[in-house]
Amino acid sequence: MLIGVPMYNFSIPASLKAWIDRLTFPGAYVDPDTGSSLLRDTRVVVVTARGGGYGPGTPREAYDFLRFTHAETTRSGDVPALAAFQEMASRSLAAARTAMTDLATSAHYR
Ligand SMILES: Cc1cc2nc3c(=O)[nH]c(=O)nc-3n(C[C@H](O)[C@H](O)[C@H](O)COP(=O)(O)O)c2cc1C
Repeated sequence: MLIGVPMYNFSIPASLKAWIDRLTFPGAYVDPDTGSSLLRDTRVVVVTARGGGYGPGTPREAYDFLRFTHAETTRSGDVPALAAFQEMASRSLAAARTAMTDLATSAHYR
């Protein structure tokens, strides 16, 4: 699935946010018979257009302040179905901590 999105007021349009909320609502896109996600084979690519420039070297570079660092399978300690992923959770958390330390010590974020 390919989505073209403009930047509006330094964010995504409210309609895209509403769509994301709807898609991700627990149980909303689950096959009631099998319990599996109806979107399991769906991949989404978002292509954005922005009126301004926020890339490296532009005056607004600092505006693009969002970075994502993911710590995953965080529920493996208390959700039985995820118990097999506890080692993955530890690795993911360690990698996220390293990424955050690198970010915190990089010149750009000081
Ligand atoms: C309501 C509105 C808010 C916008 N806010 C931003 C913004 O915060 N930053 C930016 O770079 N461009 C902003 N733009 C410009 C759009 O991101 C830009 O025009 C983009 O190319 C959208 O595609 P379009 O012009 O084909 O609709 C805004 C445009 C509109 C209409």
